[in-house]
Amino acid sequence: MSGHVLILGGTGEGRALAFALVESGQPPEVTSSLAGRVADPALPPGRVRVGGFGGVGGLARWLTEHAVDAVVDATHPFAATMSQHAAQACSRVGTPLLRLQRPGWSQAAGDVWHRLPTLAAAAGKLDALGRRAFLTIGRQEVAAFADVDAWCLVRAIEPPEPPLPRRCELLLARGPFDLPSERETLRQWQVDVLVSKDSGGEATAAKLTAARELHLPVVLVDRPPIPEGVPVVDTVEAALAWVAATLPAI
Ligand SMILES: NC(=O)c1ccc[n+]([C@@H]2O[C@H](COP(=O)([O-])OP(=O)(O)OC[C@H]3O[C@@H](n4cnc5c(N)ncnc54)[C@H](OP(=O)(O)O)[C@@H]3O)[C@@H](O)[C@H]2O)c1
Repeated sequence: MSGHVLILGGTGEGRALAFALVESGQPPEVTSSLAGRVADPALPPGRVRVGGFGGVGGLARWLTEHAVDAVVDATHPFAATMSQHAAQACSRVGTPLLRLQRPGWSQAAGDVWHRLPTLAAAAGKLDALGRRAFLTIGRQEVAAFADVDAWCLVRAIEPPEPPLPRRCELLLARGPFDLPSERETLRQWQVDVLVSKDSGGEATAAKLTAARELHLPVVLVDRPPIPEGVPVVDTVEAALAWVAATLPAI
């Protein structure tokens, strides 16, 4: 197999794909791209570039200048802008693109979930469901909750972008979080409603189990749609098979 694969990363899946491709030695060139949002990211093997490309045009140029043969968009399920840009840039320069996205979470017996399409809709519903909310939605969109009446425990890896909820406490922490610690967090802060995006994956799923045990309502924000026409897989193995089938054999 010959060629250069660009992984749009920032997730465990992106890192795992980089490990598998670099370990196999095929293709010879593997570059992971990170947005540069966190100060101390877990770096994948292979080449790493950090920072935005400068929109669709910038990414299209990068793909051409670096002779990229295939792109795997392994960004977070909620990184919708990057996914749209990847779809447009790849279509413009004719580079094959795959979306690698882990499955969303599924409701189990005992769950009290309220699925909403956006964070704004979630914020609009919050005060009807509880008085002490646990916001686990990352740090970029906490502003959607600026006007809620509920007190909010806001957990993020780095300080959220303001404005914050009027009454809130900040918990800076990086997952994974296990079930005992999630139970303890809900009890210690007397949380009565949990807010999360449907990120999927094991690393942050324990909060949903803890909420189920305590019969707490969960406001779950749906994922944005995947750009039309882009093939999707939900495992690293399937992404490896796609890369093997897409890149030319030597
Ligand atoms: N959104 C979340 O909930 C979330 C959670 C955990 C991790 N992440 C990770 O954090 C990163 C940023 O997420 P986001 O929600 O800010 O994305 P986004 O809103 O879709 O992207 C905004 C801009 O950030 C740049 N960008 C995003 N991902 C990039 C990447 N992998 N490499 C280079 N540039 C990138 C692009 O800038 P240009 O237009 O200049 O190219 C993009 O237009 C992603 O890699 C994502 O996997 C996101």
